[in-house]
Amino acid sequence: MASSFGAAQVLVASNRGPVSYDVREDGSLRARRGGGGLVSGLSAIGPDAGALWVCSALSDGDREAVRRGVGEDGVRMLDVPADVHADAYNGIANSVLWFVHHMLYQTPLEPVFDAEFRRQWASYEAYNRAFAEALAEEAAQGAAVVVQDYHLTLVPGMLRALRPDLRIGHFSHTPWAPPEYFRMLPDDIADQVLRGMLGADRLGFLTHRWAQAFTACCERFAGGLGDTRIGVHGLGADADFLRARSHEADVEERIVALREEIGTAPDGGARRTIVRVDRTELSKNIVRGLLAYRQLLEDHPEWRERVVHVAFAYPSRQDLAVYRDYTAEVRRVAEEINERYGTPGWRPVVLHVKDDFARSLAAYRLADVALVNPIRDGMNLVAKEVPVVSDAGCALVLSREAGAHEELGEDAITVNPYDVVETAHALHEALTMGAGERADRGKRLAAAATALPPAQWFLGQLDALRDETPG
Ligand code: F6P
Repeated sequence: MASSFGAAQVLVASNRGPVSYDVREDGSLRARRGGGGLVSGLSAIGPDAGALWVCSALSDGDREAVRRGVGEDGVRMLDVPADVHADAYNGIANSVLWFVHHMLYQTPLEPVFDAEFRRQWASYEAYNRAFAEALAEEAAQGAAVVVQDYHLTLVPGMLRALRPDLRIGHFSHTPWAPPEYFRMLPDDIADQVLRGMLGADRLGFLTHRWAQAFTACCERFAGGLGDTRIGVHGLGADADFLRARSHEADVEERIVALREEIGTAPDGGARRTIVRVDRTELSKNIVRGLLAYRQLLEDHPEWRERVVHVAFAYPSRQDLAVYRDYTAEVRRVAEEINERYGTPGWRPVVLHVKDDFARSLAAYRLADVALVNPIRDGMNLVAKEVPVVSDAGCALVLSREAGAHEELGEDAITVNPYDVVETAHALHEALTMGAGERADRGKRLAAAATALPPAQWFLGQLDALRDETPG
């Protein structure tokens, strides 16, 4: 008898998929393929594994592609109405859940959970339901489904109700809030989020700290974890890809251009570089990084003309005013430093805001010091990528609040991200670290950073989901 279920054996669900579409002027569609851990993870299971990636249409181009029936093999894009998606993604996922897990609220005035919040929450539910229904339709009997991130916290519970036969996993790429912060959410919403997640057989987190915070929330507010198992999978950098990619011609070209921008010290020697590369998210702490650099120039005038802060702050979530304002503040502080300290031959901060992966790799290769100082971060892959790519081994100044600190802390210089005086000291220490120590630490950092490459990271979760006996 033919099964009434779909054919996919392994399913991934995420808001952003591996492909996006633009409408060209002549009306045709152009597909752009993305990279990242999940893409290489899924490719590792091979083309015949019956894998399907379910994602949301994010742009008008994507919606047009769905309507025209244009698509990639192995990808199902959901035509979630634009207004529902905006409420769910901008309104709830990025303005509430992201803020809660990264502890970003300025609490005297926010959050305010009003009628508008309830209206947006209904969209978040509808958007999660669209995913659960599509997954239920596509999954073969007993298939494994791995749901990604805070956009889709309700999917495991909804899918469990529709398809009790499935193995359901969920992976969080963000931190999880501690109970005292999580309880800021209205009680019924907090309950829905936890119960949604607990619909999964297995929940994955990037670090023990985030897994423990989730467990603590369940113990306080949901009567425990029930049958759901918890795993920690610290996504690592993809060394083979990064090392090969960072020696391609376009990266070499960017190195020449960057060297030009950095310039040479008055004595003719090479200037030192403090490099940071981020998507401009509120949690990345770019402004305090600039303030720490300014403090360094104050505390140690001997570095003036001899160091450059290379800061790449790429656009992220620009639909949200608070993100646009933050980007403007990054620019303002960088300009202020350049005006205050710059000289005809020295621009203290080289800031770029246009995303350019080849240029990021060029900066990684040149870096003497990498500055990674987030307020709070699920992992932070830049902290793992720079040591792998850097030509001479670079010193890493790393926030203790980044997930990566759990694995890299021993060989990094640790900072409290709110303390710009301490961060300035750390930058000085990093700049003065001897070449031998820097290279040694760099090697150990690179080894720790690549311990769990993306393909193994993904396969490990899949194996655990399939093999571990439920509850
Ligand atoms: O870094 C956390 C994370 O949720 C990633 O898992 C994901 O790729 C990204 O942020 C989502 O970003 P965006 O809002 O640009 O899709």
